[in-house]
Amino acid sequence: MTDNVDLDPAGLEAAGALGGSEDLGYQWPTDPLVVKNLKHWQDLTFGVIIHWGIYSAIGQGGSWSLHRDNLGWFTDKSSQFPGDPNDDAGYQDWYYDQAKTFRGEDFNASEWAEACARAGMKYCIFTTKHHDGFCMYDSDYTNFKATSESSGLRRDILREVVDAFRGAGLETGAYFSKADWSHPCYWDRSKRIHDRFHNYDIESQPKRWQRFVEFTMDQITEILSHYGPMNVLWLDAGWVRAPEEPIGIDDIAARARELQPGIIVVDRAVHGPHENYRTPEQEVPEGVLDYPWEACLTLTKEWCSLSPDDPVKPTSSIIANLIKIVSRGGNYLLGIGPDATGHMPGSVRRGLREIGEWMDVCGTGIMAARPADPDITAHGDNLEWYLTSKDSHLFAWGVANENNVSPDRLIVDGEYALARVLGGSDLETRVSGGRTVIDISSSPTQYAVGLELIER
Ligand code: GLC
Repeated sequence: MTDNVDLDPAGLEAAGALGGSEDLGYQWPTDPLVVKNLKHWQDLTFGVIIHWGIYSAIGQGGSWSLHRDNLGWFTDKSSQFPGDPNDDAGYQDWYYDQAKTFRGEDFNASEWAEACARAGMKYCIFTTKHHDGFCMYDSDYTNFKATSESSGLRRDILREVVDAFRGAGLETGAYFSKADWSHPCYWDRSKRIHDRFHNYDIESQPKRWQRFVEFTMDQITEILSHYGPMNVLWLDAGWVRAPEEPIGIDDIAARARELQPGIIVVDRAVHGPHENYRTPEQEVPEGVLDYPWEACLTLTKEWCSLSPDDPVKPTSSIIANLIKIVSRGGNYLLGIGPDATGHMPGSVRRGLREIGEWMDVCGTGIMAARPADPDITAHGDNLEWYLTSKDSHLFAWGVANENNVSPDRLIVDGEYALARVLGGSDLETRVSGGRTVIDISSSPTQYAVGLELIER
């Protein structure tokens, strides 16, 4: 068993959750409407990914415990399983059975939507179906769903989420796992299940696989037909791809755009024409990337909350990540999710509120901003400095690695007559030899100070 440490890129890579396919470089979409939507999506800058499913009910952040590779602690069986830990089939029956008792009675989508809007987020990606196959929406193609008579939830959670988030002014997108470990045409449960892949021979049972391909298409079709405008179709399970698992991604993307013209399709980690943006996870790439990307990092340790007061990462680190990501040309997708009862932990609420307070003051140089000209450098003695640019204004960000921002002397290329401290008063500058020096003695904001630099 691996140590119970935070999710990290290496562990996820090993799990096949990230990388995967050969990388011939980012491919810009050829559909002009998709390109236009990507530019608009980049302006949204800050989003949330909400994971919630029956795994939350058994103290887990995802459905990885169902498969039998030991890829790290996140694939361990739930400690709530009352049976013999070596009984894999018994574990799976028990897992699927949780749909009956997973009630999530405290879930209030508006509460999540308002907290996210307040934090400055502009879009929400919701887990319509994780790898376990449990649909958090009303699917016509399975009874393993939140709306089923036999389910504890008996609610159309996706409907509640999209209504609430749109009502709070956010755009909505759909996370959908291409792998479905509940479908007999993906996992034949009469055979041993080893890993995350399908477990029968597609060549000798082509019709079985074809049924799975059609089922996947049908489910994506219903999500994009019945739940209003989605900005992104976020397809997870990068291992489900040709040639081993030909899921018909060209047809999926074409159907998605028939239903919702210009929708951004993210065939996550499958580098090629259907990965409209890249999705580095649990890490912030070094340096500017000149194609659309979104770093997906959790606020809590896992993809959703595991307890009523799940610890969250410090707000200083979230703000630091936000600044780094935007200064490198990416969007930030913060991962959160309800606990077993649907409750929002106080820690998550507090974290979102603190982010929102900082955004109220500094969001102007973050939202819809882009990396600054790479030739401009900025440095100080105490803070880490980053640059963004918006509407041809340059913003400099001094990031502290704790709550308090210490005084610093910023030296930045270019000649600036004035530095406007976001949330504070203007600072004088000293210009010499094509550079500007600015002394910052205090900061009106915690975590990071933002300066708008006004040219001479
Ligand atoms: C990774 C995980 C998956 C999770 C997703 C989104 O792909 O394997 O379980 O849903 O990231 O963060």
